[in-house]
Amino acid sequence: TKARIGVTGLAVMGANLARNLARHGHTVAVHNRSRYRTDALLKEYGHEGEFVACDTPEELVAALERPRRVLIMVKAGAPTDAVIEEFAPLLEPGDMLVDGGNAHFLDTRRREAALRERGIHFVGTGVSGGEEGALLGPSIMPGGSKESYEALGPLLEDIAAKVDGVSCCTHIGPDGAGHFVKMVHNGIEYADMQLIAEAYDLLRQVLGMSPAEIADVFEEWNRGELSSYLIEITAEVLRQVDAATGRPLVDVIADRAEQKGTGRWTVQNALELGVPVSGIAEAVFARSVSGHTELRRAARDLPGPEGAPQAPPAGDREGRAEFVEDVRRALYASKIIAYAQGFDQIRAGSAEYGWDVDPGALATIWRGGCIIRAVFLDRIREAYEQESPPVTLLTAPLFAEALGLAQESWRRVVATAAGAGVPAPGFSTALAYYDSLRAGRLPAALVQGLRDFFGAHTYQRSDREGTFHTLWSGDRTEIEV
Ligand code: 6PG
Repeated sequence: TKARIGVTGLAVMGANLARNLARHGHTVAVHNRSRYRTDALLKEYGHEGEFVACDTPEELVAALERPRRVLIMVKAGAPTDAVIEEFAPLLEPGDMLVDGGNAHFLDTRRREAALRERGIHFVGTGVSGGEEGALLGPSIMPGGSKESYEALGPLLEDIAAKVDGVSCCTHIGPDGAGHFVKMVHNGIEYADMQLIAEAYDLLRQVLGMSPAEIADVFEEWNRGELSSYLIEITAEVLRQVDAATGRPLVDVIADRAEQKGTGRWTVQNALELGVPVSGIAEAVFARSVSGHTELRRAARDLPGPEGAPQAPPAGDREGRAEFVEDVRRALYASKIIAYAQGFDQIRAGSAEYGWDVDPGALATIWRGGCIIRAVFLDRIREAYEQESPPVTLLTAPLFAEALGLAQESWRRVVATAAGAGVPAPGFSTALAYYDSLRAGRLPAALVQGLRDFFGAHTYQRSDREGTFHTLWSGDRTEIEV
């Protein structure tokens, strides 16, 4: 019998997806540029299902049933193009090349268009959940044609995570839609992690709590509305003790956050689309700041606030518990903002590129498998399933209520952070976004006035139609232009 699907590229993600497929009873043809990975996979996990080891792309293609499905799991960028070029000439019209890496959606659009000309379906798909997710059930976000989804979807839905019996895989939209939403997923992942890090930092610096004590707090938070994978693993990382020094591991890890680029792509695209994703942008910049050793060293001796942070004293158990609760609420509110901004970008991207992405369906498949999986996503799904879906998640009744409940705490936390000299860019920018959207009037009016003053850039009036300019260097009367 022929294999149902082929996987080329057997590093951990590729190998684990191949094993996941095999464990679900699908015969998988496997191929890797150097044979040792194929051998290692078969030797260690060959008993898990039906694998067909292939030495060459030709062998892999020959091993597959039609239409052929080839899943590419190699590095994004040039290596992906090279593999596509190897396989495309071996395929026939109707066959599918599936890219499961973190490709830029514009690359995916380009590749899809080029392969479509050759009659081949190119499916750029987001896969989230890390190594464990790939093996046990990831969240899968395939783009590409509807037709390709008919042949590929059932397989992917089979190996994806399940929540309440619903598979965490759905067809996102044509060409680059899948990789686009995966990119924004990662942007949200950056924002979520930054907010968690700020919450930890405030508890540590303002209340003087130890990492182990903060781990207890996160464990507690994980039982409520914040319940999510990232909150859960935060407790685990904070509890970890370094074997070499006996200190908390978090105190030994160098405080420079790295990135492979998907968060940066999200912000670059948001700038293009004109979507304010300030929470994601601050998270990307916070990583950059952390890595700027030279800047940080140069600025180390700049003055900070006098004395210790304004914290409830050690004996004031109630005051301390109140601050912890304030931080929890600030974290929840800021998280709502980050997701609202991300979904806003998805809406804008979908309109710009003509994808018709269904945000409710997306929230549904992010409930499980992926890195940002959270109980919270069920609320987002509900919000989008209402008869008239909200313009922004902030005004969906459930979130509007949550923000209303949280806002006093949120303000206290941002004020405390500023007073104590503890940076909280994520919390602060989220609150500023909230207040900006709420504001009846913004000082953008003054910005327009200044633009008109120095560059005759004109302005509109709020009391009547038209475009106006004040003769600033003349008699300062207003003319209609
Ligand atoms: C996922 C992750 C995964 C990867 C990130 C890491 O959804 O499984 O997002 O794709 O861990 O790309 O990104 P950085 O290295 O940029 O933090």
